[in-house]
Amino acid sequence: MFREMAVFSGNAHRALAEAVCKHLELPLGQCEVFEFSNEEVFVRYLDNIRERDVFIVQPIVSPVNTRLMELWIMIDAAKRASAGRITAVVPYYAYGRSDKKDQPRVPVTARLVANFIEVAGADRVLTIDMHAGQIQGFFNIPLDELTAFPLIAEHFRAAALPQPVVVAPDVGRAKLARELSDRVGGDFAIVDKKRKGNLEQAEAMTLIGEVEGRDCIVVDDEILTGGTIASAVQILRERGARSVRVACVHPVMAPRAFKTLDADGIDELVHTDTLPLVHGKFERTPTSVVSVASMLGDAMHRIHTGGSVGALFR
Ligand code: R5P
Repeated sequence: MFREMAVFSGNAHRALAEAVCKHLELPLGQCEVFEFSNEEVFVRYLDNIRERDVFIVQPIVSPVNTRLMELWIMIDAAKRASAGRITAVVPYYAYGRSDKKDQPRVPVTARLVANFIEVAGADRVLTIDMHAGQIQGFFNIPLDELTAFPLIAEHFRAAALPQPVVVAPDVGRAKLARELSDRVGGDFAIVDKKRKGNLEQAEAMTLIGEVEGRDCIVVDDEILTGGTIASAVQILRERGARSVRVACVHPVMAPRAFKTLDADGIDELVHTDTLPLVHGKFERTPTSVVSVASMLGDAMHRIHTGGSVGALFR
C-alpha cells in the first residue's frame, strides 16, 4: 500500500481538480507548472510526495500539445520525487480520433500519446468516455474508463420530457443512443453522417427512426466544430421534431462551435465539466453543466483504497 492520496493539477482545468478535492475533503496539492520564455515547461512539487498515492488531474484541452507536455513532465517529476504510485487522471483524452490507420501514411497518435504517458512513468490512468473503447488497449498499464452518460441521462430523465427520442448523430453512436433511450425512457433514432475527407465538415444524409412531434436529445462523446451536431439538428427539424436538445460529455468547442451552435435553434445544450470552455461561451443557446467531479473523486478514492471502480456504475 502507498501513503495517503495527493491530488495535483496542471494548468488545463484547475477548477475541476479543486471540485474533486472538495468532494474528497482533501486540499489540492501545491505544485508549480509554468513555461519559461523559450516555451519549455517547468514543474516543481512543493509538497513532499515520497511514497504517496499521487493523482495528476489534466484533461487535454487547448493548447493541446502544451497540456500534454505538462502532463508528461508532471509525471516525470513525481516519479523522480519518489511518489509511491502515479495515476494520470485524464478526463478528456485528446487525439482519440487518431486511433487507426484509416488512410495511407498516417499516424496512430492516440497510441503515441499512450506510450508517452507510460514512458513518463505513470502507473495507472483514469479517464472518462474515450472516443473509442479500444484505445484502452494502447496502454500496458491499468486504465479505468468512467462514463458520464448515466449522469447526462439522469439530467434528461429528471426533465420528464413528454415524448423523448435519443438520437445518435452518426452510426457509431447507435448503441449509445439505444442504451440512453432506456435510461431516459423513450425511443431512439440514428442519423447517418458523412464526413468530407480530412475537412472538419459533416453532412447528415439519412435519418432512421420516427421524430415528428417528438422531443429529441442528440448525444455525442464530444463536440469540436459543432458540424456533426448542427447537421443532425437540421435534419431533425426538417423531419418535424418538436424540440431538439443536445448533449455531449466533452465540450472541446473550437471557436467556430460557438457560432454554429448558437444559430441552430437548439432548445438546450448539456455538457459536462471534463473540459473548461476555453474559446468562449454560448449567448443564445441555453446551457446546462453536469459535473463529473464527484464521480471522478469517488473513482480516485476507490483506486486508492483498492475498491471496485465498476461498482460505481451498478
Ligand atoms: C466523431 O466520431 C465524434 O463522435 C464526434 O461526432 C465528432 O468528434 C464531433 O466533431 P465536430 O463537432 O467537429 O463535428
